[in-house]
Amino acid sequence: MTENLTIAIDGPAGSGKSTTARLVAQRLGYAYIDTGAMYRAMALKALREGVDPKDRDAVAELADRTRIELKQQDGAMHIYLDGEDVTEKLRLPEVTKAVTPVCQVNRVRQVLVEQQRQIGRNGAVVMEGRDIGTVVLPRAELKIFLNASLQERAKRRYLELRAQGLEIPLRQLKKQMAQRDKQDMSRAQAPLRKAEDAILIDTTKLTIEEQVDKIVNLAKSLSAEDRNGQDS
Ligand code: DC
Repeated sequence: MTENLTIAIDGPAGSGKSTTARLVAQRLGYAYIDTGAMYRAMALKALREGVDPKDRDAVAELADRTRIELKQQDGAMHIYLDGEDVTEKLRLPEVTKAVTPVCQVNRVRQVLVEQQRQIGRNGAVVMEGRDIGTVVLPRAELKIFLNASLQERAKRRYLELRAQGLEIPLRQLKKQMAQRDKQDMSRAQAPLRKAEDAILIDTTKLTIEEQVDKIVNLAKSLSAEDRNGQDS
C-alpha cells in the first residue's frame, strides 16, 4: 500500500510528463492534476472574451472572474471553465499560442497556484507542470524532473500530431520546441527548473512503461520507509 503521498512531476514539453503522471496516478489510485490545462483554460477564456492575451492588465482582471474546476470523470480529468466542460478545446493551436503570454501574468499564477495548493493539500495526488516542485508544492514527498533530448521530444510530438492527421516537419517542431523551452526557462515568473531535491529521470531511451515503473517504485519505497520509520 502506498500512503497518501504528494508527487510533483515537472519537465519540458515532450518529456512524457502528462502520460507518465496520468499512469502513475492510475497505478497508485491517486488524483492526477494537469496544471498546464488550467493555464490553457485561462487562455481560452481570454480568446473567448476577445481579450488580447498579451494585455497583462486585462488578463489579470480576467483571472479574478474566472472559475476553473477539475473533475474526475470516467477515470479521466475534465476541465470546466465557468461551468462548461472545455477539456477537448484546450489543445487547439490558438490556445497553445495564447497560453504563453497568459501564464506569465502574475495574477493568473497567483490564482491558479493557490487553487493547485488546495488540491494538493491532502496528498494522494500526482501533480504535473513546470513549477510544481519549486513553487506549488515545495514540500512534496516525491519530486521528479523528467527530461529528454530535444530531438527525441520533437520526434514524439511529430508522431503524436501525425496520429491526429497533422503532418508538420520534424525540423519545424524542433525549432518551435527549442523556442518554447527557452521561454519557459527564462521567464521571470516561476521559470521551468529542476528543484534541488527533485530526482532527474532522462526519458530519451525509456518507454512510458519504464518511466511509470521507476516513479511508482520510488513512491512505494518512500511509503515503506515511512512505515518503517513509524514502527521503530
Ligand atoms: O504542459 P502544457 O503544454 O499543457 O502547458 C501549457 C502552458 O502552461 C505552457 O506554456 C507552460 C505553462 N505552464 C506553466 O507555466 N506552469 C505550469 N505549472 C504548467 C504549465
